[in-house]
Amino acid sequence: MSPKKNRKVFITTAIDYTNDVIHVGHAYEKILADCLARYFRLKNGEENVLFTTGTDEHGTTNQKAAEEKGLSPKEHVNEVSLLDKQQIECLNISYDRFIRTTDPDHEEMAADFFSRSLKNGDIYKNKYQGYYCEGCESHKTLNELDEKRQCPNHPSRQIQLLDEENYFFRWSKYGQFLKKIISDNQLVIKPEGKRSEMLAFLESGLKDITVSRPKYKVSWGITTPHDSEQVIYVWFDALINYFTEGSRKGFWDEDTKIIHFVGKDIARWHALLWPAMLKSAGYRIPDVVYVHGFLNLEGQKISKSLGNIIRPDELVSQFGADVVRYYLLKYGPVMEDTNMSKVHMGSIYNGELANGLGNTVSRLARLGETSELEFPEKVKGPVLDEQIFSPLEDFRADKVLTNVWKELADLDKHINEHQPWSLKSKPELKKVLGYEVDKIRQISVWLRPFMPETSAKIDQQFASPRIRSTGALFPRLQTP
Ligand code: MSP
Repeated sequence: MSPKKNRKVFITTAIDYTNDVIHVGHAYEKILADCLARYFRLKNGEENVLFTTGTDEHGTTNQKAAEEKGLSPKEHVNEVSLLDKQQIECLNISYDRFIRTTDPDHEEMAADFFSRSLKNGDIYKNKYQGYYCEGCESHKTLNELDEKRQCPNHPSRQIQLLDEENYFFRWSKYGQFLKKIISDNQLVIKPEGKRSEMLAFLESGLKDITVSRPKYKVSWGITTPHDSEQVIYVWFDALINYFTEGSRKGFWDEDTKIIHFVGKDIARWHALLWPAMLKSAGYRIPDVVYVHGFLNLEGQKISKSLGNIIRPDELVSQFGADVVRYYLLKYGPVMEDTNMSKVHMGSIYNGELANGLGNTVSRLARLGETSELEFPEKVKGPVLDEQIFSPLEDFRADKVLTNVWKELADLDKHINEHQPWSLKSKPELKKVLGYEVDKIRQISVWLRPFMPETSAKIDQQFASPRIRSTGALFPRLQTP
């Protein structure tokens, strides 16, 4: 992360389109961001962290999805947004605000932001002739399309040929600025490969971009200030969501570290357009854009047209929220695309959770309980060892979990070697178990950002001073 040592941290996820309810791929990003938010709350204090997620509700995709269902756009987005929220909540995503781009404070902020850019001379009216992919909600050049002139990301959607009058944003003016902030790491883009990709894109030169659509084509959007015939382009509108809540809560000042989590398909909007928009409107730029890969399912892209969508609640009811969180944080696409399957999840459940963590915890809880000894808490407050957590500097939650599991294996080894069950001398038993109880208490603290429910269950069993053994943390899975 950047060398600035901010106490206040603002963490965001992308906001999801409401053309359909989110799937496990979207959920990955929420879990990763949630893990970081929980970590910073422990490290910097609850009051110093703001964490937002939400829904991106305007534009053609949402409008068309509503039409297909015979609903008004607002009825449709209300429905999907609520379902998304339920999906997110079943994973214990501890957001501070679930922001919707149809929220009145956001609509007001987006219009105001547009006005500021307009006043600064960065927005002008012109004709746009060219392609548009409704799936990406993005204008496309011919060389971004495949040989069939379709968007490679949305081959089942007909590409649109637009010929209309729009407002344009002078993106081209900000090429040098963007190059400088990225080269100087004033804006940190991680991982490194994504940073080079953004710099290479800048080398190819930026063209001005349209930031409105005429109402006779897309009526579902925020009306542009000073022109009631146009609506603000959905990406311009959506990016501002971060500023809406950040500024309202005092988390858009220089004392805050602003970290955006996004998937690889939308890195450019966040790393290159958003900072230019902020500069144009006279606001500070974010500190970090962290770009993760895509989660695939059984070797295939997760998509409606392939019919292989898995929603988070389906996995949660089968495995439990913490298991889904653990699995995705350890094996999800933190850098490159990864592949998941329920069979793989099942084997990780048995191997690393039931036989790993679960087994060690229940062994120790039983030993502690039968010893009838007291184990007063030694350490006050959470301890987040640098050695365990340093990979989070690069957002590598997977590596932190590997570190924690190494400690767990050491603890297991300690139990096997010292065989507390065979110790006859009470002081000797107290010494051995005392060390082991302290260690599991510490491991439980480390697990908090990753597996909050499991950590709470461990804390309960190992609460000071008497150990109480309860049921297994990860019961055997029912085989179908
Ligand atoms: N609405 C825009 C984002 C606007 S942010 C100002 C959008 N929405 S989305 O619903 O298509 O995607 C939301 C997030 O989920 C993006 O970061 C996207 O990369 C991510 N993912 C979508 N499918 C995914 C996987 N299969 N795997 C991992 N992340 C995925 O883009």
